[in-house]
Amino acid sequence: MDAVIQGKDGNDYRIRPIRPDDAESLMRGYDALSPQAKWFRMLHAVPHLTPEMAAAYSDPDPDDEICLVVEGQGALTGEILGGARVNGVGPGKDGEFAVSMRPEARGLGLARRALIGVIDIARDQGCASVWGSVARRNDGMRGLAERLGFTLRIDPEDKTLLLAELPLHPPG
Ligand SMILES: CC(C)(COP(=O)(O)OP(=O)(O)OC[C@H]1O[C@@H](n2cnc3c(N)ncnc32)[C@H](O)[C@@H]1OP(=O)(O)O)[C@@H](O)C(=O)NCCC(=O)NCCS
Repeated sequence: MDAVIQGKDGNDYRIRPIRPDDAESLMRGYDALSPQAKWFRMLHAVPHLTPEMAAAYSDPDPDDEICLVVEGQGALTGEILGGARVNGVGPGKDGEFAVSMRPEARGLGLARRALIGVIDIARDQGCASVWGSVARRNDGMRGLAERLGFTLRIDPEDKTLLLAELPLHPPG
């Protein structure tokens, strides 16, 4: 997927697969998140992305991972704003999603579009479902997941978390 989407601010944003040269922007974008947002994204303490982590996130295994990012504009031209990924994709598999967006680009519907984009690709690749762990206090992610049709239930192994699950049906 390489497309232009319209944000709720009326501006056009490019959405495309992540590439290795996004690694440094990924590190800057992670540093722009609040400590709480970092926790919500990683579900454990990760103060900064190391260069090794950023390199790995920016060079996904095409047989296993999908990642779409949204390019910035204006003051954030040249940066990626955020995006969505699904790990563990393949026919019959249950892929795990994650999504994040820089604070400057929140509320524009871009995270929603990125998540829809990776879900559509996961469906095309035959995934049976996508799922993710969501902190119970993460109202933004809860709202987004519910609007996309995920069911949310308390994780029986960690009651501070919700399991968000979306069965995928083949297109058509
Ligand atoms: C979760 C996150 C990606 C959402 O980003 P965003 O820019 O608000 O997302 P969008 O603008 O695409 O909004 C998506 C929907 O969620 C809704 N939403 C956003 N914040 C909300 C809140 N606090 N409560 C309820 N709904 C909320 C929006 O109204 C929108 O719904 P709509 O498209 O039907 O209008 C962002 O808050 C983030 O990066 N958080 C930190 C990392 C994180 O928590 N990741 C999730 C872990 S997998």
